[in-house]
Amino acid sequence: MTIDPRDRLILALDLPSVAEAEAMIRKLGDAVSFYKIGYQLGFAGGLALARKLADTGKQVFVDMKLHDIGSTVAKGVESIARLGASFLTVHAYPQTMHAAVDARAGTNLRILAVTVLTSYDDADLAAAGYDFTVSELVAERAAQARDIGVDGLVCSAAEAANLRSVVGSRMVLVTPGIRPAGAERDDQKRIMTPSAAIAAGADYLVVGRPILEAPDPKAAAEKIVAEIAATAKQ
Ligand code: C5P
Repeated sequence: MTIDPRDRLILALDLPSVAEAEAMIRKLGDAVSFYKIGYQLGFAGGLALARKLADTGKQVFVDMKLHDIGSTVAKGVESIARLGASFLTVHAYPQTMHAAVDARAGTNLRILAVTVLTSYDDADLAAAGYDFTVSELVAERAAQARDIGVDGLVCSAAEAANLRSVVGSRMVLVTPGIRPAGAERDDQKRIMTPSAAIAAGADYLVVGRPILEAPDPKAAAEKIVAEIAATAKQ
């Protein structure tokens, strides 16, 4: 699959207001073509911004990690598809994934499954009643997502190579936890540079603070796109 290097960078718009998000989008200009809107901005008017971005030719990733009874998930997915979004996350429960995949049929929306949240370790899974380790559950849910026809997975770059062998080339792998060499780690525990993540098989990189908090966000984004382009060519 060949994706333009610029379209492989997804900027996480983790900002408290639409006004601040719009100021950042103006600053970034053509350097960023794909934006992720999550809980913080989504519940502060960000879904209207998602539509506006889609209408102006940007791609939008709605990171709302849906999980509910099937019919409710389906109706949510239909509404999000109507916003013009390109990606939407759901938790990787079979019923939820089936409902989401059926509901996005005939639209441009692609469904990404979140296998196991990266803040969970084996003890958290045991406390939640699961008799699986994190790596067992990630592999099991990735295989279920593949069989159900989910379009992609959100995973750490460290998991990408392994998951690629489970899901094959049809599904996209979207990886957060990206830090350019020398950048602050913030609260990310498992980080990779943009070039290492691309080399590990990631299709899209989600980056927030290294761009949002850079003295020159546009230059920071352009540097990451250049690194993606250089690695993808090899
Ligand atoms: O600022 P930073 O680059 O760490 O932002 C990463 C983005 O990716 C945030 O929006 C975060 O919620 C999201 N994310 C993550 N780890 C996951 C899933 C999503 O960091 N496992």
